[in-house]
Amino acid sequence: MKKLSVNLDHIATLREARKENFPDPVQAAILCEIGGADGITVHLRQDRRHIKERDLELLRRTIKTELNLEMAPTKEMLNIALTYKPDWVTLVPESPEEVTTQGGLDLLKTYSVVKEVIDRLKDGGIKVSLFIEADKTQIEKAKELKAMAIEINTDLYTKDIKNRDKYLKEIKEASEYASSLSLLVRAGHGLNYHNIIPLLKIKEIEEFAIGFSIIARAVYVGLKEAVYEMKRLIIEGEK
Ligand code: PXP
Repeated sequence: MKKLSVNLDHIATLREARKENFPDPVQAAILCEIGGADGITVHLRQDRRHIKERDLELLRRTIKTELNLEMAPTKEMLNIALTYKPDWVTLVPESPEEVTTQGGLDLLKTYSVVKEVIDRLKDGGIKVSLFIEADKTQIEKAKELKAMAIEINTDLYTKDIKNRDKYLKEIKEASEYASSLSLLVRAGHGLNYHNIIPLLKIKEIEEFAIGFSIIARAVYVGLKEAVYEMKRLIIEGEK
């Protein structure tokens, strides 16, 4: 059955908008789990604009599902991951000016840096996923780097509506290829209650990482319900 990991960055964005101690991603995570989430994702950015170490520490001690830490492949982040030991680390590219993650990792350009981080994480017992584009060469590099999973960037598929079929085909082919190499396949970025539907028919995708659309819907219907609705769509769509 396909899994749903809920990204809680924007609970922390709201908290930081007023520099308050609420809403709290830790309380939110518990509601997500009650709503049916299979995992919780947070992105600890180098500028700490939303999620903080405190969140990571408390989530690690609190949640009952899998904790996935999104992070840039830097020494600082590596040490943090090895300290808090999330179940998964998803390596992502990061630049200070971006509003959200822009594009997947270029594993050709970052090969040696990523290799060192993956090796150290694996030695620490942490599973590693790489956020990449739906591209054969990148998938082959992910395999060569001995990552356990890839997360295919769905951003263009969600934004470039005119070319949606083309991107859907690329995501499907990339999922099949990665799965044939025994990589676990995830997908995420920009997914919502509508655009996820065609992706549910791709049997190789085992997990979705979704944040903004769920947190936005939670403003109207509550977080538990927003997660439950997404999880129900995933279960129904797979049938
Ligand atoms: N996957 C990755 C690698 C991301 O960086 C993000 C955004 O933090 C997401 C998934 C979730 O994207 P969204 O918030 O658009 O659902």
